Amino acid sequence: MLNTAIKAARRAATVINRASFDVERITVTEKQHNDFVTDVDQAAEQAIVETLLKAYPDHAILAEESGASANLNDESEYAWIIDPIDGTTNFMHGYPNYCVSIALQQRGIITQAVIYDPVRNDLFTATKGAGAFLNEKRIRVTKHDRIANTMIGSGHQAGPRALDEYMRMYQIMAERCQAVRSSGSAALELANVAAGRIDGYYEKGLKPWDIAAGSLLVTEAGGICGEFNGESSYLYKGDIIAASPKVFGQMVTLLSPFA
Ligand code: IPD
Ligand code: CA
Repeated sequence: MLNTAIKAARRAATVINRASFDVERITVTEKQHNDFVTDVDQAAEQAIVETLLKAYPDHAILAEESGASANLNDESEYAWIIDPIDGTTNFMHGYPNYCVSIALQQRGIITQAVIYDPVRNDLFTATKGAGAFLNEKRIRVTKHDRIANTMIGSGHQAGPRALDEYMRMYQIMAERCQAVRSSGSAALELANVAAGRIDGYYEKGLKPWDIAAGSLLVTEAGGICGEFNGESSYLYKGDIIAASPKVFGQMVTLLSPFA
């Protein structure tokens, strides 16, 4: 199943790479204020869904652009959670930080994850219980134990309320860390936590397709994911802190007032 997901991600990346040479020609539609979809998101998603359903016609689908398949429910034995381009705003501006994200959920548990960054040709994979990998090399979260030594990723939703809250959280984090970054792709932020490129990441108001694959990468790389109060229903709540274990605890202490 992981191999099929990799094949699907690479097919989507072919569509994305072709379009990235001429971003002026991309058709952009605004779904909500500052939330965009392009014709490339849709074509990439179609390539992914076709590849997965050709191999597994009975599996359910939850995809960012086309939504839930009719057979998706809480008891679905197999459900694929798909974000064809995480970082659509980056992509349509030609800013090279976006990825394809595909996760398999088995009876409510994420068991397979693929995040593919077509710009760097970075393939992140994880299987539950079998570790996380970047281009087939094992990856692990960082070993920093003090928040003062960390670089942390972050992000926020559009709209004045979310922005106001983000600014307050940013101040708290930026005063304590070496740096706080906001790169515009939740999935890549999580992959970067797993790969030890950043020490932690936090964001509120995400969707399952933004975080499903990345959360398995983080936990399989030895990290922890949780809600802002530290609890574990982050996938559908959409508020997530992800970090190495010691940094996770310190982030929860700092950010739990925003839970
Ligand atoms: C977005 C990205 C971004 C996050 C947004 C997401 P999209 O996903 O993950 O980093 O801040 O909340 O919606 O729309 O590019 O797939
Ligand atoms: Ca997304």
